[in-house]
Amino acid sequence: MVDLILQCRWILERRAVMGLLAVNLSLGCAATSWDRVAPPVEMLVLGDAVDDSERKAALERGRMVYLVDCSKCHVPEPILTYSVQDWGHILPEMIEETSLTAEKEADLRRYVESVLQLGADAAG
Ligand code: HEC
Repeated sequence: MVDLILQCRWILERRAVMGLLAVNLSLGCAATSWDRVAPPVEMLVLGDAVDDSERKAALERGRMVYLVDCSKCHVPEPILTYSVQDWGHILPEMIEETSLTAEKEADLRRYVESVLQLGADAAG
């Protein structure tokens, strides 16, 4: 499964470079619906006024923590299934279950918060 995730990420990252050809390739990825579980970082940084590569890198790491570390015991659920209030108690509990390093915890929190913000923006 990790292979699949990494492969999809590889394809997504190269979509910009390879253009149309890769768009066709990435259709296979969309079918796995990881983008629905954990929205790709491109969606989170769309509104950024400046190209902040540090933020992007942290969000990418956080997304991988969600899809890899957080899927040890169960399939990761779409983040937007739960409200900000729900995550307020779920996240600390699950971070404890996962025994994350401080760095991974910070990246994960940043990623999940950004996704929830995206959800709030989308809801208007
Ligand atoms: C050691 C096993 C384990 C790991 C690792 C783990 N979980 Fe869970 N998770 C559970 C169990 C068991 C439940 C259901 C019962 C409960 O809520 O404790 C659950 C439930 C959930 C739920 C459903 C909401 C709820 O409270 O019932 C979400 C969302 C969730 N986990 C997210 C995560 C995230 C995010 C991570 C990574 C930080 C993670 N989990 C890591 C065991 C784990």
